[in-house]
Amino acid sequence: MTEEKILADPFGRRFPYLRLSVTDICNFRCSYCLPDGYKKSGCESFLEKDEILRLVRAFAGMGTWKIRLTGGEPTVRTDFTEIAAAVAAVPGIRRLAFTTNGYRLPERAQEFYDAGLRAINISIDSLNAKKFRDITGHDRLEEILDGIDACYAAGFEAVKINTVLLKGLNDGELEGFIDFVQDKNISLRFIELMRTLDNQDYYKKYHLSGETVTEKLLARGWQQIPRDEGAGPAVEFTHPESAGKIGLIAPYSKDFCKTCNRLRISAKGALHLCLFGTGGYSLRDYLQHDDQTEELQEKIMELMRFKRSKHFLHQDDSGATPHLASIGG
Ligand code: 5AD
Ligand code: SF4
Repeated sequence: MTEEKILADPFGRRFPYLRLSVTDICNFRCSYCLPDGYKKSGCESFLEKDEILRLVRAFAGMGTWKIRLTGGEPTVRTDFTEIAAAVAAVPGIRRLAFTTNGYRLPERAQEFYDAGLRAINISIDSLNAKKFRDITGHDRLEEILDGIDACYAAGFEAVKINTVLLKGLNDGELEGFIDFVQDKNISLRFIELMRTLDNQDYYKKYHLSGETVTEKLLARGWQQIPRDEGAGPAVEFTHPESAGKIGLIAPYSKDFCKTCNRLRISAKGALHLCLFGTGGYSLRDYLQHDDQTEELQEKIMELMRFKRSKHFLHQDDSGATPHLASIGG
């Protein structure tokens, strides 16, 4: 019998969750991420479907059961639904999620569901159409809101909204967001703006601590839900009069890294142990043949000892990530 392999790091953290980027390309131009739009870097191609499958099989064999397909914008890949269907069929993968900017969601939600995707995170930074356009470069708020309805109609089990908290841009919209989730089984999570290599000045101007949201929610009668073991970094709040939940992802908060349960793979096949690490470790040589699973698993296990206990954002070290589109936010 082969020995059971379980991914863990030197701090005893387990990794049931893998965020897998399928492309760096994005068709939006979010001001904190790709303000000038996507620009090609390097000549290497993105992982092929077969390479992705080999990777997922290897991770599934080491205890990973949840996969999130991400990017860039994952749905710009013409074979996105094919990839999703293939990943969903890998034994051991119990949950397939994706993160999207919601582009063409009304038309495509059913196709995504039929491919096996069951959880969706949609980025919406403002419920004001003009602000939405200013932040993303696209006048598509209405289309994306229609997309949410299409997701429910299609049967999605979990619909979440990601909202990057931006000082002076959307921090005055809390009431609007609260109203928006009131009658929906939806979880909206504010994400504290993260500093990356490319957005230093933007960060200085727009970063706002997540604590301001927590204070406002508590003052309005929202209550923090105790965290489930194995839960991700979001702290979630409920209100007796709201069907929806509001959450907060605050990477600058104390203890954020203690609950780290995820690893990342870039679209070109590099393992990133941390969003704010110093770089990735290419696994591509181990993804070329179906019979490389053992070798690949050994390599991943070996790399786990480099996972640090926490990020160094507080020392102004945001790692080597130019923007989140480059390693999957
Ligand atoms: N800080 C915080 N969130 C970010 N995202 C992209 N870049 C940043 C950043 N610098 C968010 C996107 C999307 C999610 C994948 O990450 O808005 O919702
Ligand atoms: Fe694209 Fe997401 Fe970056 Fe916006 S945040 S530019 S949607 S990758």
